[in-house]
Amino acid sequence: MDKLEIKVMIWSGSLMVVFIMALLYATHARNLDVPACVPYDSNYKAQVKQIDSTSYEIFYVAKMWAFEPAEVYLPVGSEVDLYLTSQDVVHGFHIEKKGVNLMAVPGGINKVNFKFNEPGIYRIVCHEYCGTGHQNMVSEIIVNHP
Ligand code: CUA
Repeated sequence: MDKLEIKVMIWSGSLMVVFIMALLYATHARNLDVPACVPYDSNYKAQVKQIDSTSYEIFYVAKMWAFEPAEVYLPVGSEVDLYLTSQDVVHGFHIEKKGVNLMAVPGGINKVNFKFNEPGIYRIVCHEYCGTGHQNMVSEIIVNHP
């Protein structure tokens, strides 16, 4: 085997180890959930469901050019299962100040789990160009003291 070939293999192997370590760090040490795809449900609709005193499920629908629900109020310490789909084209979904970054895909549902430990207004923006009203796609999660 050529010496250069061996060098390239060692470098790419080391890079793979770095990427896997970064993923493990994000999921375990920083407690960030890796987004998952769940089977599509035709009864899916935009809503907020309270599961118990600290757990919520939020079902988001992205569409040209808004997110539904537009505003969500939660108490500090809430643990959220967030679901997201799109009614039309592909949209982006980014919650500022949180490590939540998803794609809204028509015909598919993405899910992520996270917690709100700090009060504040968390703005959600679309970060995928989706048409003339793209810049208007903003929503908010307002986290208050209980
Ligand atoms: Cu939706 Cu950009």
